[in-house]
Amino acid sequence: AAAAAVALSFSAGAVAASDACDDGEIVVKFAHVTNTDKHPKGIAASLLEQRVNEEMNGKMCMEVFPNSTLYDDNKVLEAMLQGDVQLAAPSLSKFEKFTKQFRIFDLPFMFKNVAAVDAFQASEAGQAMKDSMQRRGLQGLAFWHNGMKQMSANKPLISPSDAAGLKFRVQSSDVLVAQMEAIGGSPQKMAFSEVYGALQQGVVDGQENTWSNIYGKKFFEVQDGITETNHGIIDYLVVTSVDWLDSLEPDVRDQFLTILAEVTEVRNAEATKVNMQARQAIIDAGGVVRELTPEQRQEWVDAMKPVWEKFAADVGQENIDAAQAINA
Ligand code: LMR
Repeated sequence: AAAAAVALSFSAGAVAASDACDDGEIVVKFAHVTNTDKHPKGIAASLLEQRVNEEMNGKMCMEVFPNSTLYDDNKVLEAMLQGDVQLAAPSLSKFEKFTKQFRIFDLPFMFKNVAAVDAFQASEAGQAMKDSMQRRGLQGLAFWHNGMKQMSANKPLISPSDAAGLKFRVQSSDVLVAQMEAIGGSPQKMAFSEVYGALQQGVVDGQENTWSNIYGKKFFEVQDGITETNHGIIDYLVVTSVDWLDSLEPDVRDQFLTILAEVTEVRNAEATKVNMQARQAIIDAGGVVRELTPEQRQEWVDAMKPVWEKFAADVGQENIDAAQAINA
């Protein structure tokens, strides 16, 4: 018994030691806002952390802070420029203060699915977007996928006219503000961490998000139901500061970027599946999912798509054309 007790405490100690960062290791704090389980970003961040800590032991040590426990997405980029956090993966909607190029990803019905988003990002124009904020001190490293957005509210949404007069939480993006105004809603920008409480207390009536976010943060519990509109996307940029990346020794930087590229490829391939599992989990938990007929969905297209005109100059007509060619 004594021997067993010693063995137990020894192994507990060993786990704690390998979890903590050792002297001399480069500490990488990775702040994000979602849950870790059944979520494309949460799973990818955890895998990245695990691989960096195993394969770069002694050189680099990553600590992931999920669920907005370190910063919410509205503060993390400023904190990164201060050197207080090294890695984040905010949605592309949250870079508005740094670039207008990403607005293409928020335009409703621009991409028909995650594969189309992936193909667009793989193009020369898409890859160049990772470097578009260098002058502002930010370096994009990889695009991570979440999935298609759905609409929810405290009443059934079948036609866009059902949204008239409702208050909707949106991410901090003027495109999303315009989109909600286009259906007669009244949009409010709000941090992700505040959405559940705002829905529960009736500060807002509805929101738009992916299945994994609606499930992960239990929005479905405080909404009448979710309408499967697939009207837009949530996708992420894994981002760091130019200064931090430059400070790494070339071999350390290469190893880190190689691991990140591998994690990106493996997890992006699973993003849609993870969202479909979250959709099913919502139904299993008693949440209401409403499907639209093609005619009903077309009403949402007709109501929202005029928003493109307002932002065509920001995103470039050539990029809109390229995205539409991929959809075809
Ligand atoms: C949101 O704010 O709704 C999302 O960007 C959260 C996330 O990171 O998926």
